[in-house]
Amino acid sequence: MNEVKGIRVWQGDITTLAVDAIVNAANSSLLGGGGVDGAIHRAAGPELTAFCAGLGGCPTGAAKITPGFRLPARHVIHTVGPVWRGGECGEAAALTDCYRNSLALAAAHALRSIAFPAISCGVYGFPPEAAARIAVESCRAALAGPGTIDEIVLAAFDQRMASLLSETLGQMV
Ligand code: APR
Repeated sequence: MNEVKGIRVWQGDITTLAVDAIVNAANSSLLGGGGVDGAIHRAAGPELTAFCAGLGGCPTGAAKITPGFRLPARHVIHTVGPVWRGGECGEAAALTDCYRNSLALAAAHALRSIAFPAISCGVYGFPPEAAARIAVESCRAALAGPGTIDEIVLAAFDQRMASLLSETLGQMV
């Protein structure tokens, strides 16, 4: 199942999406890194890193918004996912906070469309099956509530994550 009620699974490079906001799986410094964080900073250009330098970092689970600069997306919402430590350290709650706080920030800015990468599923080692469920459940809850968001893209970088997200989305109908 590739699309359910405003939530769409898409495979590719999130930096190419011309949505109102793409979400960055950042680290607490907000000064860039590898993975999707590196890709977003490279595509947005040095203005993004300079802008982030003035934000004072971001705690795990929280979200901060910046312009998209050279990206096709108008904004970047930076959120810091949990590092997986076995599942007994509040990782699921922290990942849920990432989605919820990013969606709330997008709604607070009256944004319509937002794209998420698979937060914490790379370097931070979160099990993709559990992360996919958190992503889909959080997005469905946001679309069921008030607010301006009517298009959510779950952007998978590889086929495995895309299939997992599509299956999870199909189970939640
Ligand atoms: N577009 C979409 N998804 C991407 C892209 C891209 N261009 N590049 C990587 N991904 C995917 C990865 O395949 C993974 O599924 O994003 C997901 C998140 O992986 P990471 O980027 O490693 O992020 P995360 O696991 O949250 O770790 C964050 O890594 O890069 C550093 O500075 C970052 O310290 C932070 C940590």
